Amino acid sequence: MAHQKPKPQVVDIHTHMYPPAYISILSSRDTIPLIRRFPSSPDPRLILLEAELPALEAALHDPTAPLPGRPLTKHFSHLSQKLHFMATQKIDISVLSLANPWLDFVSPLEAGQAADQVNGSFELMCTARKGSRFFFFGTLPLSAPLPTILASIDNLKRLPHCRGIIMGTTGLGAGLDDPSLLPILKALATAHLPIFLHPHYGLPNSVYGPRASEYGHVLPLALGFPMETTIAVARMYLAGVFDAVPALRMILAHSGGTLPFLAGRIESCVLHDGKLATVKRGRTVWEVLREQVYLDAVVYSEVGLRAAVEASGGAERLMFGTDHPFFPPVGGEAGDGEEGKWESVRLNVEAVDKALGEGSEEAGMVMGGNAVKVLRLYEE
Ligand code: URA
Ligand code: ZN
Repeated sequence: MAHQKPKPQVVDIHTHMYPPAYISILSSRDTIPLIRRFPSSPDPRLILLEAELPALEAALHDPTAPLPGRPLTKHFSHLSQKLHFMATQKIDISVLSLANPWLDFVSPLEAGQAADQVNGSFELMCTARKGSRFFFFGTLPLSAPLPTILASIDNLKRLPHCRGIIMGTTGLGAGLDDPSLLPILKALATAHLPIFLHPHYGLPNSVYGPRASEYGHVLPLALGFPMETTIAVARMYLAGVFDAVPALRMILAHSGGTLPFLAGRIESCVLHDGKLATVKRGRTVWEVLREQVYLDAVVYSEVGLRAAVEASGGAERLMFGTDHPFFPPVGGEAGDGEEGKWESVRLNVEAVDKALGEGSEEAGMVMGGNAVKVLRLYEE
């Protein structure tokens, strides 16, 4: 019998969970991020973003006001629901990560223990079901003192299913161009743990204007998130962080925000800046993107996907993701709602197929082949 080629694997590298310990932390809080019950809602509500504050205030004072945040469904916390989602969207392997805002808000004294607990829960999830295929990105206790953060990286090295870490753009509080962050970036690079960089803070609410509440989550999620990622990476580039830690690998959420589109403008502004003209230049933005940066393929359009492939130097630098459990089908869509096919997933699969050719080798790489290689998803 002819030898059959193995079926290409579909890998979701952008897929979130909140383990029970984290849900308890959020449920005990009265400032964002928090989980709160409202009489008019069967599910508790998860309120994460500063942009959701006005709606939270309104709902606390007026029981008839629209509910703030999003429903905290079992998609956020139940592994069986993740498996169901994977089965319905035809995903073979998921690289799980804690959703925003990770442990950013936890007090310095509690952060180390919280990180151990969260990372331990993720390792357990990866082994909980025989034959299920999970890996995870760990979470660092970034508010804790440096030795605690370094100990947490050491701990992650010992967890067999950890393949990197997820973090936001604030670093130790002063952003990712902060020199105090360098020992952490170096430790991650030495441990071969890439950073999955994910936005949370967006842009100040004032940018969205006085009519923001009429526009739902569109402005903070579609524009605030990607700008935040873009600015964070541009700051790292300008501070020479990539040259200082050449072994560091970053995976940028949402296809790098707007970097694929704006890298040329960043490059040109650097070239034409009198202040920078006297500073010895390292690599160009393009070189850094092609040498140290991977992008997820969570961009929802063929046009964006093509730009991401071009900017990062080829289809071998992109990895498919879903952003589950965010962006579920909303009421009125045909089908089985959250239990069926998700439109948000379909858009991302379609973008890969249209940009790279359905069934092509390059599409297969983005859908899973790259993740298997880059994140060593065959090794334990
Ligand atoms: N909204 C969030 O808060 N996080 C995501 O990852 C996606 C949408
Ligand atoms: Zn996400």
